[in-house]
Amino acid sequence: MSVKKITVVGAGHVGATCSQLLSQKELAREVILVDIAEGIPQGKGLDQWESAPIEGFDSRVTGSNNYESSAGADIFIVTAGIARKPGMSRDDLLKINAGVMRAVTTEIKRVAPDSIIIVVTNPLDVMAQVALETSGFPRERVIGMAGVLDTARYRSFIALELDVSIEDIQALVLGGHGDTMVPLASYTSVSGIPLTQLLSQERIDALVERTRKGGGEIVAHLKTGSAYYAPAAAAVQMAEAIVKDKRRILPCAAWLQGEFGMKDLYLGVPCMLGENGLERIIEVDLDDEEKAALETSAEHVRSTVAALKALE
Ligand code: APR
Repeated sequence: MSVKKITVVGAGHVGATCSQLLSQKELAREVILVDIAEGIPQGKGLDQWESAPIEGFDSRVTGSNNYESSAGADIFIVTAGIARKPGMSRDDLLKINAGVMRAVTTEIKRVAPDSIIIVVTNPLDVMAQVALETSGFPRERVIGMAGVLDTARYRSFIALELDVSIEDIQALVLGGHGDTMVPLASYTSVSGIPLTQLLSQERIDALVERTRKGGGEIVAHLKTGSAYYAPAAAAVQMAEAIVKDKRRILPCAAWLQGEFGMKDLYLGVPCMLGENGLERIIEVDLDDEEKAALETSAEHVRSTVAALKALE
């Protein structure tokens, strides 16, 4: 795929960081920031473009309050919504962000019916479903960002604990994005060495627990918002796998149709990403405990979907 245009919807903390990374990596000819806040996408877009001579990139960054310049865009990264504040659960954001997601997806469908949507707005698994239903796109073209971020957090904590290079740590985190995520210790290794040979079960459990609460840990520090550097990097890594048709296997939220014994819900699973978006879902063996944890995670997603339907 020759990617000409990527639009980031929501020019807030996550969105603006996404556009900066996209342009610095030259993942598209045009990078467009769209937001309802007047002047914000234009100002941030121009500011980023003015960094091009210093950073040496040729992706043209612009900002807009409408979708006209995004006509025919190849990929949309949707970060629009309200960020989680301290004391606010992801589910508190439900109704507001569902409305935002519907409005945004309707516009995407209008101006770029063949595009791929990467959903970042929380509560992620449910927002991805809203985008899928509103767009009517096939599941290959509506993918949620969750697992790459959760896995990155897990890997970053393992690197700190072992004081080894981040590059050598492989890990897999499945399930819903949030407190019910399922880090798989059996698929975690350091340069091929199983993590269980390097750390006690007690230490692994502590790192898993920190990963589960990773989003909340950042919110507790920031007090006025939620994480954005790592979430943006995660969304951009997914876009890069698509743009370059890398066929990378990354944990993403995908619309399950029988995989892992589940149907009609978004859940974090290992996905191959390439030029068509979701190329395929990779089913891995899980032990009984992991299966039960995944089921708990799925139940949480289902109940959030039910809560949203009840609110409307
Ligand atoms: N269309 C376009 N942009 C919108 C809309 C809309 N209908 N509604 C809100 N926005 C914009 C806001 O104006 C704001 O600039 O979305 C942006 C959100 O930015 P922040 O408040 O800085 O939030 P951020 O930290 O970027 O998080 C965005 O990503 O990780 C998730 O939980 C996080 O759901 C949240 C999202």
